[in-house]
Amino acid sequence: MSDQNIIKFLEDSAKCSMLRFSTAGSVDDGKSTLIGRLLHDSKNIYEDQLDSLMKRSVKRGKESLELALVTDGLKAEQEQGITIDVAYRYFSTPKRKFILADTPGHEQYTRNMATGASTADVTIILIDARKGIITQTRRHSFIASLMGVPRLLVAVNKMDVVDYSQETFEKIKTDYIDFAAKLGIRDVRFIPVSALEGDNIVLPSKNMPWYHGETLIEYLENVYNQADANLIDFRFPVQFIINPDASFRGYAGMLSSGVIRVGEDILALPSMKKSRVKTIELHSASNNHQLSEARANQSVVITLEDQLDVGRGSMLVRPGNAPKVETNFEAMVIWMSEQALDINKQYFVRHTINEARVLITEVKYKVDINALSRKPGGVLELNEIGRLSLHSTAPLFLDSYQANRGTGNFILIDPDTFATVAAGMIMDRSSQDLELLGADPQKPRSQNLHHESGLIERKTREQKFGHSASTYWFTGLSGSGKSTIAKAFEKKLFENNRPCYLLDGDNLRTGLNKDLGFSAKDRQENLRRVAEVAKLFNEAGISTICAFISPTVQDREQAREIIGANSFREIYLSTPLNVCEQRDPHQLYQKARLGEIKNFTGISAPYEPPIKPDLIIDTNRLTIEEAVTLLQKITT
Ligand code: ADX
Repeated sequence: MSDQNIIKFLEDSAKCSMLRFSTAGSVDDGKSTLIGRLLHDSKNIYEDQLDSLMKRSVKRGKESLELALVTDGLKAEQEQGITIDVAYRYFSTPKRKFILADTPGHEQYTRNMATGASTADVTIILIDARKGIITQTRRHSFIASLMGVPRLLVAVNKMDVVDYSQETFEKIKTDYIDFAAKLGIRDVRFIPVSALEGDNIVLPSKNMPWYHGETLIEYLENVYNQADANLIDFRFPVQFIINPDASFRGYAGMLSSGVIRVGEDILALPSMKKSRVKTIELHSASNNHQLSEARANQSVVITLEDQLDVGRGSMLVRPGNAPKVETNFEAMVIWMSEQALDINKQYFVRHTINEARVLITEVKYKVDINALSRKPGGVLELNEIGRLSLHSTAPLFLDSYQANRGTGNFILIDPDTFATVAAGMIMDRSSQDLELLGADPQKPRSQNLHHESGLIERKTREQKFGHSASTYWFTGLSGSGKSTIAKAFEKKLFENNRPCYLLDGDNLRTGLNKDLGFSAKDRQENLRRVAEVAKLFNEAGISTICAFISPTVQDREQAREIIGANSFREIYLSTPLNVCEQRDPHQLYQKARLGEIKNFTGISAPYEPPIKPDLIIDTNRLTIEEAVTLLQKITT
């Protein structure tokens, strides 16, 4: 392979879909068995390993392979007193590569769980079906939400021991949803599994015919994480200066986030001097390669047009998009040391590659994990979580953790022992971090409400109109053709004397939903209202055609639940992102790429394609008429 080909290969495989996930469960929840089962059934254990595992299982009096032994390496090392905070396992299926951060389950290892979760796209929360939600479940879920994990998968394990009872599963699901409503993690899925028996891990369970969803591996293979990386806010902490001779001065480091291209303007912090990117190079032992752009998590050497005062610890950013340069900040902190926080001590803070002395000026409050409420200050002890005000002796370049996981986190170090004592997440000072104690938005505010049934039943209306009303829910990226096809379909239904009405994203957002933006939470509320409206229309005997991006599986499942599965048809406009971006009818993609629109679906916010839609329409290949013909086939 030529050098160019090797570089291309490395770049391509870096882009190849990869998922990082972590696991969290208590000691006996069956985590080792689950991981063992996942690796075994997805054929990620070599024959010779299997042989030796089988022999060890037999020695331990087992007739079949003891799956928990697969993860035994980790335990053995712990017994020898070697501290492993997090063990990373790599495996793959034909669809994806996986990095699993495997963390021990004991309470004192909360910090490990936090470390594992800090880079995870998904955290699997393991619940023992017999026990339901316990304190550990709450603690782990809270930490995952604090660490900014975008989605949780709740695996309700040991279903075999509860006779594969749907009721047990549903009860745990309801309890968890109640609890999670306060957490701010929007995307929570549930899968009933038996790791021991292999139900719904890789193979669908024959024992739970009532469950129609994905298996664990299907979920991990398909969950959309492409938009998780922050590609908008360019942050380049300078780690080394490369200055072999007077003719070359390069800045080496890794992009914490964002994208930068040759020729673009930059601002250097803290000097506030501006310049332009001259070259971007990929340095290796044998060769240097010129790149035209670099992206988040890439390590590169950047040279600038001008000689600036940029040293180790400086940060290159974009002139119009810089972090705050401050000494005072607030953070949520997980205390990880046996020695409680000492308010009179000067700790070290390590943030990106910078270190400074720091004083904790106030413990604003501690978090009660069980109630998800605040407790008055005091000091933080091992595993406790609280919100602190801090003052550092040197200015730091600060982003909020919510906006930027890379530049929003830090650790605190004890100056006497040099041990890491805490992990912190920088909070926007105005933010309420979590709506602790807030009302559950999923439930009506008042409990004194009584449903009034009308004198005309839905069935009676349908008989009279000769039409049973349904909702046709169009999902897809901006520019995928939802509105165009939906309008044509509405016209066709109308011509066929079917009462129908089109609800369209842009239109509702200028009326009923004009108070909502594009945060994940606002989208969920947007779509909840839309689904409620669609349901009312359906009850009145009118079919609705809903054209909304509705980016996540959960958004659409919420709609299905509100409207009723029998009346709900899911239509996926599968036009690929690059085509939508080329069409860009309102130049929104262009603005999103420049960071002028935040949370833009497909660019800086996720889109998850439906797994089993009723119909897929690729407007790249079908005409409007052809699409409408297909739609008529699924019309009730
Ligand atoms: S949804 O995600 O909540 O389902 P919805 O379909 O209502 O979105 O609105 C999407 C429309 O809003 C897009 O067609 C586009 O015109 C506009 N828009 C404005 N900002 C954004 C954004 N950040 N992400 C996606 N669409 C946006």
